[in-house]
Amino acid sequence: MSDTPFVANRRQFLATTAAGLAVAGLPRFAIGAPTRIKVGLMLPYSGTFALLGNNITDGFRLRLAELGEKLGGVEVEFVRVDDESAPPKAKDNAAKLIVKDKVDVLIGTVHSGVAEAMVQVAKEEGTLTIVPNAGSNRITRELCAQNIFRTSFSNWQANHPCGDVVLKDGHRNVALISWNYAAGKEMMEAFKESFTAGGGKIAKEFMPDFPKDEFQAYLTEIASIKPDAVYTFFSGGGALKFIKDYAAAGLQGKIPLYGPGFLTDGVLAAAGPAAEGIKTTLHYAHALDNPVNVKFREAFKKATGREADVFAVQGYDAASLLAQGLTAVKGDIGAKKALYAAMEKAEIDSPRGKFTLSKAHNPIQDIYLRQVKNGQEVVLGVAAKAVNDPATGCKA
Ligand code: BEZ
Repeated sequence: MSDTPFVANRRQFLATTAAGLAVAGLPRFAIGAPTRIKVGLMLPYSGTFALLGNNITDGFRLRLAELGEKLGGVEVEFVRVDDESAPPKAKDNAAKLIVKDKVDVLIGTVHSGVAEAMVQVAKEEGTLTIVPNAGSNRITRELCAQNIFRTSFSNWQANHPCGDVVLKDGHRNVALISWNYAAGKEMMEAFKESFTAGGGKIAKEFMPDFPKDEFQAYLTEIASIKPDAVYTFFSGGGALKFIKDYAAAGLQGKIPLYGPGFLTDGVLAAAGPAAEGIKTTLHYAHALDNPVNVKFREAFKKATGREADVFAVQGYDAASLLAQGLTAVKGDIGAKKALYAAMEKAEIDSPRGKFTLSKAHNPIQDIYLRQVKNGQEVVLGVAAKAVNDPATGCKA
């Protein structure tokens, strides 16, 4: 696709196609509410985040199956785009789903940079969007909007509680390593905020480009500066490589490794003994012993042959949120005001525990402290209760 600005592309598209008439204001359905909605999945199905995109999709589909293949009484048709976690393609990908395919709802995405561009298109077009992963703080801060919802987390939310955890474990001098893009930067900032406020010092920060996974040179330097601990964000294929390289560099057990739980979720089994001892904070843990989670992780395993993880939960909850909204408006996706009001008020009975949404449409949720012990992610406790992102700058 060209990199012509999205708005220009759209005007040309509307002016030259019959489909433009519908987008320009003519009703899609002459009488009553539609019996079928189109859901656009804009997710990574290739690259380092492919396993995240697949688990979000399968989580969404599992919830849909549990609800008899209908949300609020309407059937669902899917259109998918592999966004490749590529920010330069993000606006065109979102425009393809919204303008060309005319989806009613957009579900996406994983990468914060891609999500920020996607959300700007969705805001401009007024398309209902549910973000099932990307933690970009901006999405529920200055970019917040009536039609944008999130069932995952903000980057601040998942990382801020870990500063106190690391301090309580007695570490004062910590090295940071993460990808150099919106999520990596915001996650490191959130950790630093609480860690340095409590007296912690940052030994050094390493920020390789996304999705680089050559870590050897950084690990050699970390070994030479000998921090008390390392704090890191990687996820998917990059996380697996980092965990293995960390152990292979002889750092495992010598310099404790901390991070948000995206580091181990989805890759724990593949990482094997290299993951032992890693401590993380996250809004979900596979081991959570509540009835919704017990049922969910069994059903997900049965449906996919894979273990459930936080990404599957976020996709599952996106379907629950949409179902609650559509039920309230009897399936009428066009009743936007009532639909958004119902979604804003929803209480989601999630595998992570029940949660509600803030005014900025971000989950208010507990953040768990977890540690890998004998190959299992063990829940050590709740690191922070009912964490609410500050939503600074949200005016919607
Ligand atoms: C992000 O880019 O926001 C992100 C990607 C993977 C895991 C968690 C967050």
